[in-house]
Amino acid sequence: MAFQTMTILGGKGMLGTDLVATTKKRGFDVCVYDLPEFDITDDKQLEAAVSGSEVIVNCVAYTNVDHAETQTELANEINGYAIGRLGQIAKDAGVPVLHISTDFVFDGTKAAPYDELDKPNPISAYGGSKRLGETRLAESGCAHCIVRLQWSYGKQGVNFITKILNAAKQRDLLKVVDDQVGSPTHTVEIAKVILDLLQMKTFPTGIYHCAAGGFVSRYEMSRFLFDMLGVQTKIEPCKTADFKSAAQRPLNSRFDCTKLETLLGRSMPTWQEMLKNYLATGNF
Ligand SMILES: NC(=O)c1ccc[n+]([C@@H]2O[C@H](COP(=O)([O-])OP(=O)(O)OC[C@H]3O[C@@H](n4cnc5c(N)ncnc54)[C@H](OP(=O)(O)O)[C@@H]3O)[C@@H](O)[C@H]2O)c1
Repeated sequence: MAFQTMTILGGKGMLGTDLVATTKKRGFDVCVYDLPEFDITDDKQLEAAVSGSEVIVNCVAYTNVDHAETQTELANEINGYAIGRLGQIAKDAGVPVLHISTDFVFDGTKAAPYDELDKPNPISAYGGSKRLGETRLAESGCAHCIVRLQWSYGKQGVNFITKILNAAKQRDLLKVVDDQVGSPTHTVEIAKVILDLLQMKTFPTGIYHCAAGGFVSRYEMSRFLFDMLGVQTKIEPCKTADFKSAAQRPLNSRFDCTKLETLLGRSMPTWQEMLKNYLATGNF
C-alpha cells in the first residue's frame, strides 16, 4: 500500500517513540496521538484521530501487568473495548489498522514456540484485556493486521534491562528467574518490521508473531548483559514461583516467526545481535 502519512496512536510510549523516529527516517509524515491530549477511550477523540488518516498503527495500551489485576475494568476499557471501537470507526472510514498485541494472550505452557494458529488462553487480567482487543478488532470487520510482540525493550521506557541494571546498582547479589524463556527484542527492530509490513504492495491482514531470533532465559539474558557491560554484581538463578507478584506470567514466551519472516523475505536478527547493537549506543 502506498501511504504518505502514518497515524501512530501511543506514539510517545516505548515502541511508539522508536516507530515515530523510524517512520520519519523513511521519509513519511507522522501524526502522533497519546496521553494527555488524546485518550483512546474517548470516542470523539478517536474519531478525530481516524478521520483523514491513511493508515493507523495502534501502540496504545494499558501495560502495567500487575496493576491490571486490580484495575481490570480500566485495562479492559483501554486494551479491549476501545480497540473494538477503533475498528468500527476505521471500518466506516475505510482506514486499515495495524494493532500491537502480546505473548500474554497465551498461557505459556506449550513445550514449543507459539505460532499464530495456537489457541490463546490468557492467565492474567492484562493478557485477557489484550486478547479482548484482538477479538473486538477482528469482529469490527475493518482491514486489520495484528503484530504480537514479547520481551521488548527500548530506550524510551521501563523494561527488563532498565530494571535489572538498576537493581544491580543497589545490591551485591541478584536472583533472576531461569524458567521464563523468550527473545529480547529491540523496539527499533520492531519498528522496522512494522514499516516493512506497511510498505508492502497490499496491506497484510491477519496475525503475525514478531521476535528476535533465538531464545534465552531471563537469567541467561542477565548474565549476557552483565558480561557485556562489565557489571560486577553476582547473579543466581531462581524460579518464578520464588517471587510473589500480583499477575501470573507465561513461562514460555517463545514465538515461531516463520509466517512473518516468509512474508518479509528475511530473518529477524538474533537477540544477541540486537542487544549488542543496543548496548553499543550507550544510550539506555
Ligand atoms: N514492552 C513489552 O515487553 C511488550 C511485550 C509484548 C507486547 N507489548 C505491546 O506493545 C505495545 C506498545 O507497548 P510499549 O511497550 O510501548 O508500552 P508503553 O511504553 O506503556 O506505551 C503505551 C502507550 O500508550 C499510552 N496510553 C495508555 N493509556 C492510554 C489511553 N487511555 N489513551 C491514549 N494513550 C494511552 C501510554 O501513555 P502513558 O505512558 O502516559 O500512560 C504510552 O504512551 C502494547 O500494545 C503492548 O501491549 C509490549
